[in-house]
Amino acid sequence: MTAPLLSITGLNAVSDREKGQPILRDVALTLERREVRGLVGESGAGKSTIAKALLGILPRTVRVTGGAIRFEGRDLLVLPPRALRDIMGSEISLIPQDPQTALNPGRRIEAQLTDGLRMRRGLSAREAHVRAVRLLEEVHIRDPERVLRSYPHELSGGMRQRVLIAAAFALEPKLVVADEPTTALDVTVQKQILRLIRGIQQAHGTGVIFVTHDLGVVAQICDSVTLLYAGKVIEEGRTADVLAAPRHDYTRALIAAGPRYDRPDAGLKPVPQAVFEQLRAEIGIR
Ligand SMILES: Nc1ncnc2c1ncn2[C@@H]1O[C@H](COP(=O)(O)OP(=O)(O)OP(=O)(O)O)[C@@H](O)[C@H]1O
Ligand SMILES: [Mg+2]
Repeated sequence: MTAPLLSITGLNAVSDREKGQPILRDVALTLERREVRGLVGESGAGKSTIAKALLGILPRTVRVTGGAIRFEGRDLLVLPPRALRDIMGSEISLIPQDPQTALNPGRRIEAQLTDGLRMRRGLSAREAHVRAVRLLEEVHIRDPERVLRSYPHELSGGMRQRVLIAAAFALEPKLVVADEPTTALDVTVQKQILRLIRGIQQAHGTGVIFVTHDLGVVAQICDSVTLLYAGKVIEEGRTADVLAAPRHDYTRALIAAGPRYDRPDAGLKPVPQAVFEQLRAEIGIR
C-alpha cells in the first residue's frame, strides 16, 4: 500500500505569545492524491497554523510540541532545511489569501510567473513563456500575452487571484494549500475562482488543503472536510456524509446557522451557547 499524499498525526502546538496556550490539540488528518480537503473552523481554530506548518513557515512564537506531518511518508517536521527547501514551492505550494499583497508590485507578471519555472525546472526563457501562457489560459485568462506584460496594479483583484492560482500550479506541485483564497473577493468572482481551482486541481491531479470559514464553500469544492474548534478536530469525513449526517452538535449547529455561520450580521441562526459549553467541556477548556 502506498502512503497517502499527506498524513498529519497527533499534531500539538502551543503559543509562546500566549503563555504556552495550546493552539493545536492532537490534530490528525489525511489527504489522498487528487483529494480536496476543507479545513473549517471559526477564527482562532488553528486553520492557518496547520497551513503554515505544511509550508514550513510557522512563526517563531508557535512551537510544535509533538506529532508528525508526513508528506509522501517523509516527516516535514524533522527534514533537514535543505530537503525542506527543495519541497517548498516546488512540491507543496500556496494560494495566498490576499491577491493585493501577494504579488511583487514592481515586477511584471511574466517575471513572477516564470522565475520558478526557470530556476527550479530549468526551462529557458522561451519555454517558460510558452508555459506561462498555457497556465494563464488554464485559469481562463483570455489575453495572456497582455497580462504577462502587466504589472499587478494594472489587473483587477479577480485577475490577480487567477494569476496566483496559475503560479501555485506552475511547477506541478503535488499539494496546494489554499488559505481562504476567495475571502477578499466579491461573491460572483468567488464562485468563478472556486470553479477554476476545482478545474485546474482535477486537470493536474493535485491534492488540495482548502482553508475556509464557509461551509458553503466546502459543499462546493471539497471532497472531504475537517472541522476544528480551539485546535481540536471536532468532526471529519466525506463532505456529503458530514453535511447529510453530522455526528457532532457543533457541526449540526453550524449547518443550521447557514453558509456564513461566522457572520451573525447576515441574520442567520447563531450557534447556541450550550453547544459551545459542551465543546469546551469535551476539550477540557474553560
Ligand atoms: N504568530 C503567532 N504566535 C503565537 N500564536 C499565534 C500566532 N498566530 C496565531 N496564533 C494563535 O494561534 C491560534 C490559532 O490561530 P490561527 O491563525 O491558526 O487561526 P485561524 O483558524 O487561521 O483563524 P482565522 O480564521 O482568524 O484566520 C490563535 O489562538 C492565535 O492566537
Ligand atoms: Mg487563518
